[in-house]
Amino acid sequence: MTGAPGDGGSGRRQAKGAAAIRELAPGQSPELLKALHILTREGQLNADSLRKLKQVNHLARLLAPAIEDLLARFGDPVLVDCGAGKSYLGFVLYELFLEPAGKGTLHAIEARPELVEKARALATRLGYTRMHFEQAEIGAAAPPARVHLVTALHACDTATDDALALAIRAGADHVAVVPCCQAEVAGQLHRSADPAPLLASLFEHPWHRREFGSHLTNVVRALALEASGYSVTVTELAGWEHSLKNELILGKKVRAGDGRAKARLLDLCDAAGVKPKLVRLLWPAAATQRPATGPEKSSGG
Ligand SMILES: C[S@@+](CC[C@H](N)C(=O)[O-])C[C@H]1O[C@@H](n2cnc3c(N)ncnc32)[C@H](O)[C@@H]1O
Repeated sequence: MTGAPGDGGSGRRQAKGAAAIRELAPGQSPELLKALHILTREGQLNADSLRKLKQVNHLARLLAPAIEDLLARFGDPVLVDCGAGKSYLGFVLYELFLEPAGKGTLHAIEARPELVEKARALATRLGYTRMHFEQAEIGAAAPPARVHLVTALHACDTATDDALALAIRAGADHVAVVPCCQAEVAGQLHRSADPAPLLASLFEHPWHRREFGSHLTNVVRALALEASGYSVTVTELAGWEHSLKNELILGKKVRAGDGRAKARLLDLCDAAGVKPKLVRLLWPAAATQRPATGPEKSSGG
């Protein structure tokens, strides 16, 4: 929609303001979104912030049953957001669920100190006293011992694996990750010395190696959750057109573990000749029969 000729763009601005209102989740305040700079001071959205708001709100909607389950069952459920960035997701979850419930803690882990400082200052200004910010690498972070939900929205590359390992080791009741671009496994496929012939043709070309490597990484993540006793749902997160960045992996802890899922996972890694970070973190002793990293080859992939 555009403004009428000669209206100085006010029609377009109104349309953007209306789009912003439409995107608000029930109970969501424009004031918080302005403080997060998702909305401008005039209450408008640009294309990037509209996409971010859609994503975060879609994820919040999908997480609602898990968070409501935790709030019903526990006195102080702990939500840990990994690779939190500006903590958009954390602030939205706090406003929509933890603040009205009057309980629950949001623990955000982020490596970049300036983002942590800004988010901490905003939480103080808003009076969000049960939001805590830890400046750390996820793999070295020290969240509370009892963790109920772990999220990671576009945590870069293998940071998603660190988040999943944190969730699994802590025995988190629920986990939700939206992986970001993934390069590690494509590199391992490129160096894979003796992949199973049926699989090998799936990643012969660099482009396929990138796509297949990313897909294989997420398949391994889902199987690792199953092996660790989670029921898993893989679905789509709205608002991000790039196919590698809109996969949402949800896990709910339902049993102690699943040996068959672990065997399938290790067989798959073995057949492809890879050992992704999550496997190294969770099962460092699990040997693959095929070497995961053969000699370096000349072209990238
Ligand atoms: C693409 S941003 C996403 C931020 C936020 N989750 C969002 O969706 O708006 C990824 C963030 O993860 C952080 N990050 C990446 N690897 C990390 C690690 N190993 N430990 C902690 N933070 C990490 C980066 O500093 C960055 O802020």
